[in-house]
Amino acid sequence: MKKKGIKVIDLFAGVGGLSLGFKAAGYDVVGAIDIDADCKKTYNLNYPNVNYICEDIRKLNTKDILKTFNVKKVDLIIGGPPCKGFSTIGARSSSKIEIRKKFDERNYLFKDFVRVVNEIKPRVVLFENVSGFMSFNKGKVFELVKSSFQDIGYEIESYLLDAVNFGVPQFRKRVFIVARKKNISEIGPPKKLSTKVKLKQMQTVKEAISDLAGKEKQISNHEPLNHGEKNIRRYKLIPEGGRLPEDKLSPDIYRRNFGNTFKRLDRKAPSLTMVPGHNAFPIHPWLNRSLTVREAARIQTFPDNFIFTGNRQSQCLQVGNAVPVNLAAAWAFHLKRFLI
Ligand SMILES: C[S@@+](CC[C@H](N)C(=O)[O-])C[C@H]1O[C@@H](n2cnc3c(N)ncnc32)[C@H](O)[C@@H]1O
Repeated sequence: MKKKGIKVIDLFAGVGGLSLGFKAAGYDVVGAIDIDADCKKTYNLNYPNVNYICEDIRKLNTKDILKTFNVKKVDLIIGGPPCKGFSTIGARSSSKIEIRKKFDERNYLFKDFVRVVNEIKPRVVLFENVSGFMSFNKGKVFELVKSSFQDIGYEIESYLLDAVNFGVPQFRKRVFIVARKKNISEIGPPKKLSTKVKLKQMQTVKEAISDLAGKEKQISNHEPLNHGEKNIRRYKLIPEGGRLPEDKLSPDIYRRNFGNTFKRLDRKAPSLTMVPGHNAFPIHPWLNRSLTVREAARIQTFPDNFIFTGNRQSQCLQVGNAVPVNLAAAWAFHLKRFLI
């Protein structure tokens, strides 16, 4: 017998941060698509009952997608195409002009998102991306995505939200485009994570990870990196909530400071953004090592029973790329009243 419920497809699903939020709010996630084989393994391990197509979306035809997912109608399509080119700390802010200017075809994968939406015609679409997406190419790509949904008959709303306001112990701004069929009234943004969704809500790094210190290697994905002696000396110089002081480094450990790798989190505050597409996390608030995958996953509000597979670099990418589960759940709960 087929399950009833609000049917969802997750495009560019990664390991399914979005999927997990929607599942937590009671949706029926009928299928997910992503090109990455490690993401598929992690997704399959955690959601053995959801069909996952591991393929380049540009090669997929919608009839086959629906057949594989064993559905005829879909209520909602969610997803976030790759955001590396839009991210303010990706190629876009490189000092090398040729890297900045390089045509990044990942930035145009949204066209396939729109194509699949046009062929499936869900009632609502939730499209997520990094905040830099709004200003990329002087805002032209953002306008193009919105008008592409309008051209296929949807009303558009867009919202810039910070995960920190939705029970996530992390500053993480993301833009959401909501496309709705014309017979659905204005949806608006979620206000906060509903208490009806049984997920732990957190505000500070301490709340999220303090109990994990001393339990290294005892729980899954909680293996610290073996840092070299020079890096440990550098870490010791980084104050809590601060960054590597370049002016205080002796010549033998001198290095330029960039990204989040040489920043130490403040236990009393929300975390810095777990950077998408990056395989290094910031430094633990009081230990002289970078965060483990499990600590980063906690900051992304993944529960501990969610297991990441693949090598460490891949696991870091999977965690950093995800939509925080609590933010996804806030949307899921909010959208429900328009979809029931
Ligand atoms: C920002 S991540 C999505 C994260 C996901 N929404 C979550 O919450 O966990 C973007 C994903 O797009 C996938 N991707 C990139 N190019 C793709 C393509 N051509 N077809 C399908 N998936 C692709 C990447 O493998 C990556 O997992």
